[in-house]
Amino acid sequence: MPVDAAVLHVAGARPNFPKAAPVIRALDRHGVRQRLVHTGQHYDERMSEVFFRQLGLPEPDVNLGVGSGSHASQTAGMMTGLEELMVAARPALTVVYGDVNSALAAALVSVKLGIPVAHVEAGLRSFDRSMPEEINRIVVDQLADLLFATSSDAVSHLGNEGISAEKVRLVGNPMIDTLLANLDRFDVDGIRAALSLPDRYVVATLHRPGNVDDPADAVDLVKAMHAVADLLPIVLPLHPRGRRHLENAGLLSHRALRVVEPLGYIEFVSLVRGAAVVVTDSGGVQEETTMLGVPCLTLRPNTERPITITHGTNRLVTRSALAEAVALAVAAGRPAEWRTPPLWDGAAGERIAAIIKDVLG
Ligand code: UD1
Ligand code: UDP
Repeated sequence: MPVDAAVLHVAGARPNFPKAAPVIRALDRHGVRQRLVHTGQHYDERMSEVFFRQLGLPEPDVNLGVGSGSHASQTAGMMTGLEELMVAARPALTVVYGDVNSALAAALVSVKLGIPVAHVEAGLRSFDRSMPEEINRIVVDQLADLLFATSSDAVSHLGNEGISAEKVRLVGNPMIDTLLANLDRFDVDGIRAALSLPDRYVVATLHRPGNVDDPADAVDLVKAMHAVADLLPIVLPLHPRGRRHLENAGLLSHRALRVVEPLGYIEFVSLVRGAAVVVTDSGGVQEETTMLGVPCLTLRPNTERPITITHGTNRLVTRSALAEAVALAVAAGRPAEWRTPPLWDGAAGERIAAIIKDVLG
């Protein structure tokens, strides 16, 4: 690991990659020296490497290869690896992304070494502390020196938690930069043909612990998905977390529900772009559907991204109400015009890079 990095990016899980890509690219344009550490939180080719290929991310300078484990063992493994690396590299700034354990580990190690931390996607709150991500968000935001928010509600939450306004910048959404930069590559007809789908289909993603970790929840969820499959064909690129419990609960027994491996970013967003409705518990997918004007039904009791409801196409649903909500959304059709959140304009990475460059002097 060269010791000359001004900025050290730490990423490790699937949703980190579309957020980091535009920031790294913009910092490159500003001539800032940077390094990328992959924690290894996600490691399957389809959860990690495919994003590097498709999004033009640089090869990580280091991959800590931490892999899966309990929260404590995974986070501890990352912290030990990151500490050694940061002591040697001494970057001027560490940049962390989102609400995953990789961000928590990097922020904790960095601040204790006196290296300031920038948090991309700061201030989102579900106010549900049963979500591991909510704990990560709160802690990372308390530790960060520079907080990049995607929406004004996030800015308000940070203020309410006593974080000085000087540290907080409303910059827009770098994940949406990636979406907008790749619009020409999303090939709806191609993915529809590849998966032999009719014109109208549903795309689903499921991986929240609150939906898939408990076998009883998995049974309810499978019932709800089968009720949707009675209406329209569903494609479910299944996250590895949910696979065992959902399959044990009979997921694969409906002809109209097709489970596939996680898809590459370009294939996945192509699929979403052509969908009649998306059913999800993902954070990022709520945002992407809002930008694409695709109706989104979020299978969660809350969201840390309420702007996708107030300014977008998202709605929260329960499992028992899911099929009816899908039927209504399909009957209503896709909006001809739709609003998108302020500053979700493709320039967030550039705003972040300009601020970082300025801070670094
Ligand atoms: C993590 C994030 C979550 C995010 C999700 C995105 C935390 C606390 N959670 O959840 O916020 O929404 O990533 O996808 O950081 N596994 C594989 N192959 C992989 C990665 C994981 O098989 O490449 C399996 C392992 O069995 C592992 C399980 O998935 O135990 C969960 O992985 P983990 O990274 O711990 O959490 P996610 O559920 O992926
Ligand atoms: N995604 C993907 N392939 C898939 C499912 C999701 O490329 O099969 C992308 C999706 O477009 C978004 C990101 O992964 O950019 C969201 O990651 P995920 O849902 O795993 O995490 P969350 O956003 O919930 O933290």
